[in-house]
Amino acid sequence: MQIVWLTDIHLNGVTDEVTDDLLTAVAAHRPAGVLIGGDIAEAPDVREYLLRIAAGLDCPVYFVLGNHDYYFGSVQHVRQEVSRLCQCHPQLTYLTDAQPVQLSECSALVGHDGWADGRCGDYHNSRVVMSDHRLITELAGTEAETRLSLLQKLAGEAADHIRRVLPQALTRAQEVLLLTHVPPFREACWHEGNIADDQWAPHFSSQVMGETIVDIMRSRPTQRLTVLCGHTHSSGEFVPIPNVRVVTGAAEYGCPGICRVLTVS
Ligand SMILES: [Fe+2]
Repeated sequence: MQIVWLTDIHLNGVTDEVTDDLLTAVAAHRPAGVLIGGDIAEAPDVREYLLRIAAGLDCPVYFVLGNHDYYFGSVQHVRQEVSRLCQCHPQLTYLTDAQPVQLSECSALVGHDGWADGRCGDYHNSRVVMSDHRLITELAGTEAETRLSLLQKLAGEAADHIRRVLPQALTRAQEVLLLTHVPPFREACWHEGNIADDQWAPHFSSQVMGETIVDIMRSRPTQRLTVLCGHTHSSGEFVPIPNVRVVTGAAEYGCPGICRVLTVS
């Protein structure tokens, strides 16, 4: 079966026509499912875009949210509202609030938004100013040290979810896909063709998620995990241990496209 993967599509920044063209291009693959790795739109309109995506496709849509999806809103409120939306629209599955999805006899899907946890690179001397720190309610107006605690709390909750659902998925599937927004290893933080430097890495990667993944997969060497992430808008691959492959998807503001078409057996 074919699965279409999109990430960082930022539909709030394009015309309706561009969104329609994207959905037409996705539908042309007649996919068994579509994965969306976050940064779909922003808090005020992300639900509206999810409904448009569902209406434009006749297959299940599995997604996580990215940091932009919380802009002009709060993490807690957006997650509640999006989870509520999915309860009314079974075509939509928010993986952050879902059990493992069995895609086929030997393949399963799990996911979580993830969150950059400031542990890679040099958080305290980074001059990078993320809009997150202004536009997301929980982070707005916080000092660097308080904010770091909040980032690590969000990243820790994501890792805890994966620590619960990934082993469950592996009891029923030989191969698992893990969809997340934030790269779980610094080496997966491709930025303009290179690995993110000390300035960007704190804001681009979740070290705790990477450690959690390796911890779970190291004891299951005959099973395979493919991590699909985005956030940095540059493509690349990283293999932290032989049975884990991390694919970072490219994206361009104003020009949403299909990241990859995956064949799942
Ligand atoms: Fe992002």
